[in-house]
Amino acid sequence: TGYFTFDPGFTSTAACDSAITYIDGDEGILRHRGYAIQDLARNCDFLEVCYLLLNGDLPDAQQKDDFERTITYHTMVHEQLAKFYSGFRRDAHPMAIMVGVVGALSAFYHDSTDIFDPLQRKIAAHRLIAKMPTMAAMAYKYTVGEPFMYPRNDLGYAENFLYMTFGTPCEPYMPSPILSKAMDKIFILHADHEQNASTSTVRLAGSSHANPFACIASGIAALWGPAHGGANEAVLKMLEEIGSVERIPEFIKRAKDKNDNFRLMGFGHRVYKNYDPRAKIMRETCYEVLNELGIKDEPHLAIAMELEKIALEDPYFVEKKLYPNVDFYSGIILKAMGFPTSMFTVLFALARTVGWISQWKEMIEDPAQKIGRPRQLYTGTPAREFVPLARR
Ligand code: CMC
Repeated sequence: TGYFTFDPGFTSTAACDSAITYIDGDEGILRHRGYAIQDLARNCDFLEVCYLLLNGDLPDAQQKDDFERTITYHTMVHEQLAKFYSGFRRDAHPMAIMVGVVGALSAFYHDSTDIFDPLQRKIAAHRLIAKMPTMAAMAYKYTVGEPFMYPRNDLGYAENFLYMTFGTPCEPYMPSPILSKAMDKIFILHADHEQNASTSTVRLAGSSHANPFACIASGIAALWGPAHGGANEAVLKMLEEIGSVERIPEFIKRAKDKNDNFRLMGFGHRVYKNYDPRAKIMRETCYEVLNELGIKDEPHLAIAMELEKIALEDPYFVEKKLYPNVDFYSGIILKAMGFPTSMFTVLFALARTVGWISQWKEMIEDPAQKIGRPRQLYTGTPAREFVPLARR
């Protein structure tokens, strides 16, 4: 009964209106609250971008200062939450840990879960932004068997994250300003991307007025897949599998073969039919980081560059408008920084949390907000007569 638009994959359905992020996929444009991603990535730090996404405008100096103080106030996690980690197998994927521990925040902060109280919504957002680096670093520490490091509130956001990830109590680690800046830039590039699968998941979960921390956990689950945030991990695995520049044509051939499930990871995008503007900045950052670390002739970079060149000229990729996306170069940078591939998507989740919670907040504050409830085209058996068990 009823007539619905059939749109699997939501390729032509706008499910909400939003004033946060604008994308023109044909032109390769990405803007947050009107500002070009290039301007934000080159001139702002991540917390300024967080403030922008959440509040609609860039902060002035006083607002920036206050916001930084508020975020650093919330960086620690409850000691009881730390115990959650030890319930996981030590070889658990850190994304599995993140789905669990971020969901568990919903059991800790009862004073920031009345979604109809603007102040509580704000505190929930601040808590999430502040605790994600601590929790992501803890997920890493747990899988490598090192002690958790407490956050240091005298450090910058990205700097503190690197300190908690790579430092140990016996050997405190202090990242160089160039590496901290690169990490911060990677966070900016991942901060929001309008109604992608994970953000839509957060909105759908939140549309029933569920607990905000639980909604973010649902976003982390959706992000994990290789077609979405998991692509950064998949890109590096693919570059490792290709192994040498000589073998690229073999993989290009496979990517074009409809009977082969293989796809070039880090290529193609639902919205961008042009070069992803984030990928360009990511490529620049990749050179900066390798230079800083004194890494010359990075084998994966050589394969990635050649792969990009061949794919951009190949008629299959040209006709289908398949360009490198944000995930194509990020893995090379993260690996050079010392992150294992299993942490790549965790870093994406850390950075995207501000986008998720900003979109969630926008939705809750919309007076026209309704529970998300897609319809379906039923393809099952028509009505039939019930047969008692004895006669089946
Ligand atoms: N390699 C080879 N062929 C591809 C690729 C690829 N990476 N991506 C798309 N195609 C082909 C696909 O086979 C299809 O061909 P045809 O029209 O002949 O059936 C056509 O291009 C359109 O692809 P689609 O799957 O219908 O497009 P989509 O918008 O549903 O999918 C995508 C977008 C990102 C899931 C897809 O391009 C993909 O799987 N890419 C590789 C994974 C990846 O890099 N994901 C990260 C996306 S960006 C960051 C993020 O979202 O987290």
